[in-house]
Order: sequence, then C-alpha cells, then structure tokens
Amino acid sequence: MNFAVIGCGVIAFTHAKALKALANEDCRLYACCDIIKEKADQYARDHAVPKVYYDYHEVLADPQVDIVCVCVPSGIHGEICIAASEAGKAIVCEKPMEITPEKIAAIIETVKKNHTKMQCIFQRRMMPVAIAVRDIIASGRLGKICLAEAQLKYYRDQAYYDSAGWRGTWELDGGGALMNQGVHGVDLILWMLDDEIDTLYGRADTLCRRIPVEDTAAAVLRMKKGTLCVIEGATTAYPGFSTTFAVYGEKGSIVFDDEGIRQWSFIDEQDAPPRPETGERVGGAKSAVDIGIYGHICLLRDIAEAVREDREPLIPPWKADKAVQVICSIYESTRTGQIIKFA
Ligand SMILES: NC(=O)c1ccc[n+]([C@@H]2O[C@H](COP(=O)([O-])OP(=O)(O)OC[C@H]3O[C@@H](n4cnc5c(N)ncnc54)[C@H](O)[C@@H]3O)[C@@H](O)[C@H]2O)c1
Repeated sequence: MNFAVIGCGVIAFTHAKALKALANEDCRLYACCDIIKEKADQYARDHAVPKVYYDYHEVLADPQVDIVCVCVPSGIHGEICIAASEAGKAIVCEKPMEITPEKIAAIIETVKKNHTKMQCIFQRRMMPVAIAVRDIIASGRLGKICLAEAQLKYYRDQAYYDSAGWRGTWELDGGGALMNQGVHGVDLILWMLDDEIDTLYGRADTLCRRIPVEDTAAAVLRMKKGTLCVIEGATTAYPGFSTTFAVYGEKGSIVFDDEGIRQWSFIDEQDAPPRPETGERVGGAKSAVDIGIYGHICLLRDIAEAVREDREPLIPPWKADKAVQVICSIYESTRTGQIIKFA
C-alpha cells in the first residue's frame, strides 16, 4: 500500500512514524505534498519519501498512490477528501473531518457515491480502556448512566496560535479549544455513551488569547436515555491537564485519564469486569507535538486492511460526524443563549 501524506506539518510526523512502524505490513510512505516547497522537501528528506509534490492534484493523479493522508488545516479537509474520492483514492483524514456539519455531509455524500474507503482519525477510540468502557456501558453492567464527564483542559499559549496562520481562525480551524483540541474528547465521551443527544446548552468564550474563536468552554448535554453529560474544554488551563473521562452509573463508576484508570468501582465487586491494560499514553495536554502514535498505527493498519479486504474501515465518516455537530451546537447556543434541541 502506497501512502501519500498531504500537508507536511506537525501531525504529518505522527503519520510518518506510524507508517514506519507498519513497514513490515506492506505499508510505505511513498509520497508527500505541501504547498510550501521547503516543508515538503524537508519532510521527504527526514522520512526518506521517494516522491515529492507541491500541489495535491498531482498526488491524486499519481496512479502509484493508494491511500492519501489528509494532514492539512481542518477547513480544507473537505475539498481534498472530495477530490481524493473522485480520483479513486482511499483516504485517511485527520480530525476534525471538517469544521461544519454541512461540509461533513458533503464528504459523506461523495464517499458513499464513490464507495471510497475512508478512515477518520479519532485515535483515542483505540485506547483499550475506552473500548472497555464502551463495551461495559453497552452490556448494562454499570446500569443507567446518570452522569458523564469529559474534562478537556489543555494549555496552548499565544505563541501556539501565532505559529501558523490558520490556528484559532473560524475559516480554517472552525473554532478553538473545542474544535481543535477538545474534539477528541467530545468524540470519545459520545462514542463511549453510544446514545443520541436530546438537548444541549453550552457557552464558549474567548477569555485570554488574542483569537476570534473560544479558548474556554463548557456545556451540558442531556442524552436520550437521560444521562447528563458535562463537557469542559479549554486551552487556558495551565500547565495542561491529563484529559479525564468519567461515567457514573447506578451500579458503579469509572474514571480514567491519559495516565490510566483512576476509579474502577462496581457496587457488586464480584461482578466487576477486569480492568483493561492502560495502553500507550495519548498525551497532547501540554503541547501539540507531544502525542503518542499507537492510535495512528491502529487506524493506518486498519485502512490498509480495509482496502485489501474490501471492507468498511473502523471509523468511516458516517461514524465520525457527531463531535463537530455538538461543538457547532455549543457555538450556536452561545450565540443565541438558547438550549439546542436535537432532532
Ligand atoms: N490527531 C491528532 O492528535 C492531531 C494533532 C495535531 C493536528 N491534527 C490535525 O491535523 C491537521 C493539521 O494540523 P497540523 O498541526 O499538522 O498543522 P500544520 O500547520 O503544522 O501543518 C499543516 C500543513 O499543511 C500545509 N498545507 C496547507 N494547505 C495545503 C494544501 N492545499 N496542500 C498541501 N499542503 C497544504 C501547510 O503548509 C502546513 O505545512 C489539522 O486538521 C489538525 O486538527 C490532529
């Protein structure tokens, strides 16, 4: 499988490292592309990439390319994913898939029409503890889930926002602390609960950074099964805290963060499911470059297998659209002061 990375910035390095780990599994980093020539050339040198392009259309025209990894600013994911689908390439798309529900719907429509294999990156879904919690909730072993929490307290200083023109803009980042950093955790708590949203009230403000988008936010979601889900998201929380998830059910509670399980308590201890392995640290709280590669390895391996076996990948776009819908609803709730009712 020949992979091509489009956009040779921060996250492109994670893709290169993950592909290196998959070298024995018939996956290779065959091409890279950036509109900034020096960045593409440097990336090619750093990772021994045979083909270098400066225009993504040329990547899509290369018949040797099987799978493209879309690692450009979030607000142009859709344009490139749609073009890649039309060109017959399989796709790996960084989070968030796009920055509005409408742009996501356009991707889904094209991918379905062309029967494209597309993997969306939400690497936290590969954490053994997250998989275990989702299964435990689905099995009913926690009973009714009363309260759920996602605490997404990152620290990004002004220099981070100034480091690339697209960061912290509505046009290309689509939002701030929630849409860029928090989207991982919003996705994970919704994925683990696996419930529909009934209503949402949220507030997203810009309190410290010189950016038009939010640096601090909070929201309360009422889920269809009754769970109250509290989401906190910030890039103002010095020095950056381990992302924390909690579910409190009528039969017990589970709390975990990036370092491991903090609480694994079942009222009937004899019925307690075994604690899963902690797995590799996900990271990212203090810095965008400080993230693990385990989830990327899993998801890149899976898309290659999905192409070979002609099956659906683990996270196709229609299973990766909820978080952006929720975040955009938090923005709408902030603008209108209203509770948002979901269909
Ligand atoms: N999964 C994760 O944990 C994670 C972490 C960081 C970033 N991301 C996501 O990855 C994406 C990129 O983020 P980043 O931090 O690497 O950004 P970045 O600014 O470091 O890199 C983006 C690169 O894309 C290039 N680019 C812009 N337009 C292009 C085009 N039309 N064609 C080719 N190249 C183009 C830029 O020149 C730049 O080098 C974002 O969507 C971000 O949300 C995901």
